[in-house]
Amino acid sequence: MLAVSWDTIRLFLHVLAATVWVGGQLTLAVLVPALRRLGAEIPRAAARRFNQVAWPAFAVLILTGVWNVIAVRSQITGSYETTLVVKLAVVAVSGVTAALHARARSAAGLAVFGALTGLSALAALFLGVLLAG
Ligand code: HEM
Repeated sequence: MLAVSWDTIRLFLHVLAATVWVGGQLTLAVLVPALRRLGAEIPRAAARRFNQVAWPAFAVLILTGVWNVIAVRSQITGSYETTLVVKLAVVAVSGVTAALHARARSAAGLAVFGALTGLSALAALFLGVLLAG
C-alpha cells in the first residue's frame, strides 16, 4: 500500500468538498423537473436541504484551498500563478452567484444565477485539475 501523507489528506478533503459543491449542484439541477411535478414547493425544500451540506463544503474548499496554496507556494509563479488567480476569481463568482440564486424570487433570477453558479463551479473544477496536473 502507498503511504498516506498530509498531501493525501489535503487533496482528499479538497476533492471531496468539490464533489459535493459541483456534483451536488449538477445533480440537483437534473432532479428539479421531477421534483417540481411532485409540488411547486418541493424543489425549494430540496434546495434548502442541499444548502445545509453545500455551504459547509464550500467552506472546506476555501480552507483546504488555502492549505493547498501554502503547500504549493514554491510553484506559484508565472502561468501557474495566473491560473490560480483566474481560479480564485471563478470560485468567488461561484459562491456569490450561488448566494444570489438561493435568494432569487423570480424565475429569471433563479435561472440566470443558477446557470452562472453551475458553470463557474465546473470551471473551478477544471482549473483545479489543471493546477494539480
Ligand atoms: C468551487 C471551488 C473549488 C473547486 C471546485 C476546486 C477544485 C479543485 C480540484 C478538483 C483540484 C485538483 C485536485 C487534484 O487533482 O489532486 C484542486 C486543486 C487545487 N486547488 Fe482547488 N477548488 C476550489 C477552490 C479552491 C480555492 C478557494 C483555492 C485557494 C484558496 C484552491 C486552490 C487549489 C490549489 C492550489 C490546487 C493545487 C493543489 C496541488 O497541486 O497540490 N481551490 N482544486
